[in-house]
Amino acid sequence: MNNEVPQDKSLDNSLSLYQEGYHFIQNRVEKYQSDLFEARLLGKHTVCMRGEEAAKLFYNTELFQREGAIPKRIQKSLFGVGGVQALDGKEHDHRKSLFLSMMTPLEEKKLGELVLAKWEDCIEQWEQAEHIVLFEEARKVLCRTACEWAGVPLEEAIVAERADEFTSLVDAFGAIGPRHWKGRRARTKLDEWAGSLIEDVRNGNLDAKEGTPLHTIAFHKDLKGELLDTHTAAVELNNVLRPIVAIAVFITFEALALHEHLQSRTRLTTDQEREAFVQEVRRYYPFGPFLGAKVRKDFTWRECDFKKGQLVILDLYGTNHDEKQWGEADQFKPDRFLKEEPSLYNFIPQGGGDPMTGHRCPGEGITVEILKATLDFLVNKIEYDVPKQDVSFSLVKMPTLPASGFIMSHIRRKK
Ligand code: HEM
Repeated sequence: MNNEVPQDKSLDNSLSLYQEGYHFIQNRVEKYQSDLFEARLLGKHTVCMRGEEAAKLFYNTELFQREGAIPKRIQKSLFGVGGVQALDGKEHDHRKSLFLSMMTPLEEKKLGELVLAKWEDCIEQWEQAEHIVLFEEARKVLCRTACEWAGVPLEEAIVAERADEFTSLVDAFGAIGPRHWKGRRARTKLDEWAGSLIEDVRNGNLDAKEGTPLHTIAFHKDLKGELLDTHTAAVELNNVLRPIVAIAVFITFEALALHEHLQSRTRLTTDQEREAFVQEVRRYYPFGPFLGAKVRKDFTWRECDFKKGQLVILDLYGTNHDEKQWGEADQFKPDRFLKEEPSLYNFIPQGGGDPMTGHRCPGEGITVEILKATLDFLVNKIEYDVPKQDVSFSLVKMPTLPASGFIMSHIRRKK
């Protein structure tokens, strides 16, 4: 126990976490007027923190480790067992280099062009429809895009089913009950499917082009010079496909931002302005709520004694909304990204720190390119109406989404 650090008095906060969602840490930061406090979560003393300085600390790999920090229920749904997320040290760096090698600026651009082409393919069908739900369309478009880019064969007849399975993995992380179990079943199915693709490529039954993620992962060698076991390779292939499909959440918020912040829409003429808009979408709207790590060795920071083995939670959403860093944090203002470059630790929708040396998401470039291409599509390639609907989103449900999924009607190709 730390006498100097605020202690949340509740016997156990696990229920409050589910009841307060994205605001759980923020609420207590305000209550205790401290970026750091202790609480009991799942029966254990846990340090909760937010803000740029806290993020710098959290990404110090000499002080924190991921092994043992990710609950089994999250590994068995969202991440998969054996993936890069739970590795540390040299093993992590080596596996991470596999991801970074697939996500070069050239590949990121390729994905942007591919997704734009897939969006354009939808227009004819949409022109015949009374309305479409953007989230539903986005996850199918992204599933086709992800598989084509990765070299993974995907029949059109099963696109909707696959897209739904990938979504269930993401939907499971903040859920208890049926939503969680749907994700667990999808995980088993997707890992088996990806595993059979890996085996087929390795034994020559499936032709995978060199340079595609399917080929690269199938023939990646670990530090001992051995191929990854089939299950681990399958988990890593899904670690590429699943998050690309998940960008559908940001796309839905992107369309909402275009609709609700019309003044920003008029300033999307240059690439810089479009990028600033996309960055503000990633900062402002909620997606990943927080991350956990385990203390590697005893140390003291800001009069708080961190004990070896203790769980520490970093607030991603709260750091992106920290008033100290972001003036008028609760307003959607893309221009802020034109004036100032964010740091590696204050803008952390996809984790913080350096992606080469730590756990920061290697897919940020892909996310930004896909969101930019989609913005171009929504603004320059089509016209549409936004009928009356419920676009509110909960800050309790994790992950969240506008209730309607964003309905668009009377869609026509822009002349
Ligand atoms: C890691 C969010 C897109 C692949 C992460 C982390 C977050 C995150 C919060 C954890 C960082 C940490 O543990 O410190 C997101 C969001 C995305 C997205 C919100 C957009 C929807 C992508 C894409 C890819 C990707 C497009 C790849 C195609 C990964 C991988 C990791 C990761 C492999 C694990 C990195 C590691 O442990 O070293 N992401 N991500 N993500 N992301 Fe993303």
